[in-house]
Amino acid sequence: MQLRWAQRTILSWATALIILSYVQALPVGLLKCLKNIRSRSESSLVTPSSPLYDTNRIGFNSYFDHRPRAIFHPASEEEAASAILCAAANHVAVAPRSGGHSYEGYSSGGRNGSLVIDLSQFQQFSLDRRNNIATIGAGTRLGHAYTRLWENGEYLIPVGTCPSVGVGGHGLGGGIGVVGRKHGLLTHNILSMTMVAANGTIHTVSPASNPDLFWALRGAGGGSFGLVTEFRVQAYEVPSPVTTVILTYKPDKMGAVLSAFAKQGKIATEDLSATLYIDKKKIEIEFTYLGSQAQMQGAIDPFIEHIGEAPFQTEFEEGTWFQAATRWGQRAGSTLEAASIGNMTFYHRGRSLFYRDLLSEDEVGVIEKYLQNLPKEKTWGYILIDLWGGKIDRPSEPSAFDNHKGVLFSIQFDIFWSSPHPPTPGFACEACLKWSADFVKEMQSIYSSGPILEAYQNYIERDMPDAFQAYYGDQLPRLRQIKKSVDPRNVFRFPQSIPLP
Ligand SMILES: Cc1cc2nc3c(=O)[nH]c(=O)nc-3n(C[C@H](O)[C@H](O)[C@H](O)COP(=O)(O)OP(=O)(O)OC[C@H]3O[C@@H](n4cnc5c(N)ncnc54)[C@H](O)[C@@H]3O)c2cc1C
Ligand SMILES: *[C@@H]1O[C@H](CO)[C@@H](O)[C@H](O)[C@H]1NC(C)=O
Ligand SMILES: *[C@@H]1O[C@H](CO)[C@@H](O)[C@H](O)[C@H]1NC(C)=O
Ligand SMILES: *[C@@H]1O[C@H](CO)[C@@H](O)[C@H](O)[C@H]1NC(C)=O
Repeated sequence: MQLRWAQRTILSWATALIILSYVQALPVGLLKCLKNIRSRSESSLVTPSSPLYDTNRIGFNSYFDHRPRAIFHPASEEEAASAILCAAANHVAVAPRSGGHSYEGYSSGGRNGSLVIDLSQFQQFSLDRRNNIATIGAGTRLGHAYTRLWENGEYLIPVGTCPSVGVGGHGLGGGIGVVGRKHGLLTHNILSMTMVAANGTIHTVSPASNPDLFWALRGAGGGSFGLVTEFRVQAYEVPSPVTTVILTYKPDKMGAVLSAFAKQGKIATEDLSATLYIDKKKIEIEFTYLGSQAQMQGAIDPFIEHIGEAPFQTEFEEGTWFQAATRWGQRAGSTLEAASIGNMTFYHRGRSLFYRDLLSEDEVGVIEKYLQNLPKEKTWGYILIDLWGGKIDRPSEPSAFDNHKGVLFSIQFDIFWSSPHPPTPGFACEACLKWSADFVKEMQSIYSSGPILEAYQNYIERDMPDAFQAYYGDQLPRLRQIKKSVDPRNVFRFPQSIPLP
């Protein structure tokens, strides 16, 4: 017995030593390799020993506390290519980061030990006004995109409303905003991209030059195939004026509001976008209309009639596109210009489901139950419903988003909590996590929109059952083949990246 114990101990020590020296050998190799990359700025490489490491590694959602080997901020495609080769040679996973808003912290790797390639230096912007095409760096944040497009002749590209979200992740996974029903998602409006591949080569990805990859990147592109540095995007002249209205109802009208949203939403004009915010105390329907208040009234009256009761509060605002964008930013807690990565204030768990039809009474009941039974701690829990449809269902080019054609609305199940002082990355509110998990599990168990759960890849969720099916439907085999052709050694990987065949 004694001997076997001794043997075992020696064996496990030996194993530990081998593992330890192996593990330690890797970062030295990687860091040395990264340090050899000529870079214009001193702070382009952030390592665990750097004082900037903690603020640099945490994304928007401080609940995720992953420890990358390093964070590298390339200033050119060539530098990015060198960094990717350093990682590949050292068997380190590469995680691209644009705005850092991944719901699962995947742009920090989604686990310890990745190389984060941060695209914040890719802020280039130009506008071809003859052809209405914007060229935009992947590290640009939506708030800055709104501003630059406005200042360059009052243009827009179809994107969401949260100023700090990055163009990169947003565009590769979808990107719904207030002109989505009119012009489609950001992903649908991408005309071509520049991508650095796992073997360090730099490619233009367009329908002509690389149709398979062009198809895959638009919808399934976040973190799986390569590092996209630049997008050429269809731009549009802004509508004028733009009217927004927020109709507020009491929570007991939820069934009627949801029914109006589903039934009227199916037939509403594409100039109208709609978002429902519902928490314990109130229901807010936020409509945006690409036109005047007078025109808008006709578009929203059917919703109010369907609900059968006037809202107890109505706030109309008619103005320019830029004024509206500024207000959306404020509602998301930011100015358009101050859009920056998180500062360890947001602790969040978000999940989502797509629906193709009216919710059942049981589903409405479950929502009521959970919204009325939030954890007692200082938390903020709610659901957010976006109306899809319109041009989203009629893209001009096929993409890896096509399995979601016909979706009527998405529901996000969100909960935020605050951390103790000082802010503590990774801080978990266990009751919040349980609320979120139980809520969504119950919604999934009575899912009424089909035999298979469907959800939005830009609200990616580690616990999503049958996640690849939910996000990519039957497209997965094709995506895996494309993955094999462009990244055969799986350099671009995170816990839910497209796997090799
Ligand atoms: C507060 C908030 C508001 C949001 N509002 C909306 C909304 O209105 N509409 C909507 O559709 N979505 C919305 N989202 C979801 C958002 O679109 C996704 O989280 C999106 O992936 C974020 O992009 P990012 O560049 O900020 O994130 P990141 O975390 O940087 O990236 C997300 C994923 O894409 C990968 N990736 C990032 N950049 C690149 C690149 N250049 N090349 C290759 N892979 C890359 C990352 O590795 C990661 O896996 C919101 C999210 C948050 C947190
Ligand atoms: C990541 O590394 C930190 C610090 O070394 C450690 O505390 C944590 O448990 C690691 N996380 C995982 C998932 O291994
Ligand atoms: C983080 O940013 C928010 C919003 O800009 C701000 O209100 C808050 O004071 C900041 N917190 C810290 C710790 O810097
Ligand atoms: C590198 O990868 C790209 C993208 O898949 C491919 O087109 C190219 O042939 C590869 N080049 C080399 C030298 O392997």
